Amino acid sequence: MSEENDTAPHKNAHARIEKLAGGIAIVTGGASGIGYALVEAAIARGMHGVIADIETKAIDLAEKNLSAAAKAAGVKLLGCPVDVSSEESVTALEEIVANEFPNTPISMLCCNAGVGGGGGVLTARDIDWDFVIGVNVKGVANCVRTFVPRMLSQKAPGAVVTTSSQDGICCAQGVYGVTKHACVALTEALYNEVHGALSVHVLCPNAVATNIVTSERNRPERYGGIPKENRPSDTKAHPIAERFKAFGMAPSRCADLVFNAIQSGEFYILAEALDDPGYVHLEAETRMKAMLNKGLPFRPKSELLAKVFDPRIPLPEDQ
Ligand SMILES: NC(=O)c1ccc[n+]([C@@H]2O[C@H](COP(=O)([O-])OP(=O)(O)OC[C@H]3O[C@@H](n4cnc5c(N)ncnc54)[C@H](O)[C@@H]3O)[C@@H](O)[C@H]2O)c1
Repeated sequence: MSEENDTAPHKNAHARIEKLAGGIAIVTGGASGIGYALVEAAIARGMHGVIADIETKAIDLAEKNLSAAAKAAGVKLLGCPVDVSSEESVTALEEIVANEFPNTPISMLCCNAGVGGGGGVLTARDIDWDFVIGVNVKGVANCVRTFVPRMLSQKAPGAVVTTSSQDGICCAQGVYGVTKHACVALTEALYNEVHGALSVHVLCPNAVATNIVTSERNRPERYGGIPKENRPSDTKAHPIAERFKAFGMAPSRCADLVFNAIQSGEFYILAEALDDPGYVHLEAETRMKAMLNKGLPFRPKSELLAKVFDPRIPLPEDQ
């Protein structure tokens, strides 16, 4: 356990969060959505930001949009293309980060990159499983294996945050749900292996206003490539994508909850949407009660998810 944590009231906490300043925050999937918000929040807290993402155009835009904030905070920003599902690519990222930031500790590792979809377990093809497991599970494993040993050897405090989902704690649905449960399990296993030397947290949000619905835009060739309907020239406005943007919580809320958790020591970050309070907690409780009381898997109804997925409910501008 680091000196910082020895004095913290909670062994998974950085009570003096300002001690993370001056180090690096590596955020996978940092060019969009929740990852972008995490980079922005880390910069504001005095950390150098690494925007590690597969989408190069989005990296360029994120760097442009965050450059003034980085300058004002006196920190560096590094955009770096990576495919987290490839061990080789993550190793290359580690080398770039080490060269760009010599003798600088990694204060935060956010294994956040993820893709939606995959379909149901009865219909998903082998290649769909490979894609979604490759990014959502092996992508986290690759980053943990590559960066955490360096974090453990540094004489500075550090936090590891993975992004699962509410789908990782309720009764599982589809290939995505399976991978998000695996992400929670992987993070618990990591917590047990670092023995308090780093703080460890898993983010489990309700719906967030991001680009998650159009994840196929980043499907690597070895997993079948980008489907025709998702290629930029063919992409039409996606009805559900629009609804996520209209009804989902702001990504900045997730970033705020992550930093609160790093400070308080919360491991499971059940990120509730302000307009659907308590739902993620209810999902977790419902699953646990079913297990303990010989019940069946059941997912309670959510007003927010109904708004996101039910096209009969009008968008806010149509109301
Ligand atoms: N949006 C939601 O409602 C929601 C809810 C719960 C959990 N999540 C999770 O949040 C995380 C972030 O997603 P988001 O919602 O911000 O969506 P997003 O699509 O806006 O951001 C995901 C980012 O990950 C990047 N990415 C995709 N594949 C990659 C790969 N192989 N290597 C590196 N980067 C890759 C994308 O380019 C993108 O910038 C994901 O793990 C997602 O499953 C999202």
